[in-house]
Amino acid sequence: MITPPDELRKRYQKSFKLQEKFHTLVPGGSHTYSKGEDQQPHLSPKLVSHAKGALCWDVDENEYIDWMMGNRTFVLGHAYDAVDNAVIDTLRKGTNFSRPGILEYEIAEYLVDLWPVAEMVKFGKNGSDVTHAAVKLARAYTGRDFIAKCAEHPFFSTHDWFISTTPCNNGIPAEIKDYALNFKYNDIKSVEALFDQHHDKIACFILEPVKDVEPQDDFLQKLKDLCDKNGAILIFDEMISGIRFDLLGAHHKWGVYPHLATFGKCVSNGYSCSVLAGQRDIMELGGIFHDKERTFLLSQTHASETVGLAAIRATLEECQKVNATQHIWDTGKAFKDGMNALAQQEGVSNFIGAAGFDCNPVFSFKDKSGAPSLPLMTLFIQECLARGIMASWLTVTYAHKQEHLDRTFEVFGEVMKSLKPIIENDEVSEALVGDPIKPVMRTYNKCLQRQCGLVDKSAPKASCCTE
Ligand SMILES: Cc1ncc(COP(=O)(O)O)c(C=O)c1O
Repeated sequence: MITPPDELRKRYQKSFKLQEKFHTLVPGGSHTYSKGEDQQPHLSPKLVSHAKGALCWDVDENEYIDWMMGNRTFVLGHAYDAVDNAVIDTLRKGTNFSRPGILEYEIAEYLVDLWPVAEMVKFGKNGSDVTHAAVKLARAYTGRDFIAKCAEHPFFSTHDWFISTTPCNNGIPAEIKDYALNFKYNDIKSVEALFDQHHDKIACFILEPVKDVEPQDDFLQKLKDLCDKNGAILIFDEMISGIRFDLLGAHHKWGVYPHLATFGKCVSNGYSCSVLAGQRDIMELGGIFHDKERTFLLSQTHASETVGLAAIRATLEECQKVNATQHIWDTGKAFKDGMNALAQQEGVSNFIGAAGFDCNPVFSFKDKSGAPSLPLMTLFIQECLARGIMASWLTVTYAHKQEHLDRTFEVFGEVMKSLKPIIENDEVSEALVGDPIKPVMRTYNKCLQRQCGLVDKSAPKASCCTE
């Protein structure tokens, strides 16, 4: 049996009360769209009060095992002592100075020594700062305007060059998106086709070096070779893959080094720091000693703030000390194997499972036709939350240990058991209170026909409607 809605409303009483006011104060009621109300079941906690290790607590004081980890901003776990202590020591000595701080020098030297891809580095605060900087640098270096992005990779930046290409591109001049081209992962022919069509116009290729599938047939090396041959810059976005796949970047594991790489998210274990790293002759364009036209690379008031810089060094040192990456690979494998075995045992393996790389597992929820099912995903998340498991997506960290896996599997088993008859009787949507989770990148909040929000501005009216 799934949890009665009244019981859940009682469980999240304070959450519901605060959320109502919060939405009158902040548009979207969140500072990241992926943490918003439309990304969670209606009957769910709305606000988190604090977190430690692999656990977090909502404002109603319900405890959760947190498998999401603040949009993947953690590799060691919440409030990790070695990182927090380094930050506290640093912040007591001042957080921003009138000339570059000594930490900017020290951390730059540390990263250039650590990461083979880094001949030079430049710091930002968010991932978007550095992917945007990489694209701008590539355009400046090549004198070309077009960018080629991997079609299967869902997010690179909050900046116009990327958001213009999504269905949520209101407020951006229409012609911006005309500069963006798409290629497909593991499809070198799609790369060749772009060079054939626009060979001296493409400034860069940007992609996550790996996401959910292995690079096949030497794809990454062939892509690099084609970029070199055609004078384009190869940018690997390591926001999610960096550290998790390999401390030196996922690209290092596959032995293919891009011209530029971008790191952020978990690299500073929850503190704000992002890094553009790459080849000296390209990076130098943002410098002040060359004779070329100046390039306004990254120049941010808060980029030199000491807190994020102290955090990045403490995080990477601790990751090396405890071999966090290996722990993440092992624990992710145990998660995937355990979840899939449970689904098999409970007779729901056609509908619920885990896939992807061991270090970066992803959920899979399908309906009876085998199509991805957001209603099933929403109901599963709702029932896990009701039992103290927060898992809309999966971010395994060093803080996740066997005890967390054990409790999670206990809950997954119960939830799968209760959902099985609902799935078999086609009652998932009826069982759900409120809307299913919606894609972030949609044109309207709700579409008029099906309330799904999927209708694209440029598509014929209600093209997604099946009724
Ligand atoms: C692969 C990737 N690149 C870039 C970004 C942008 O990072 P940020 O939100 O820190 O600006 C994200 C954010 O989700 C991402 O997943």
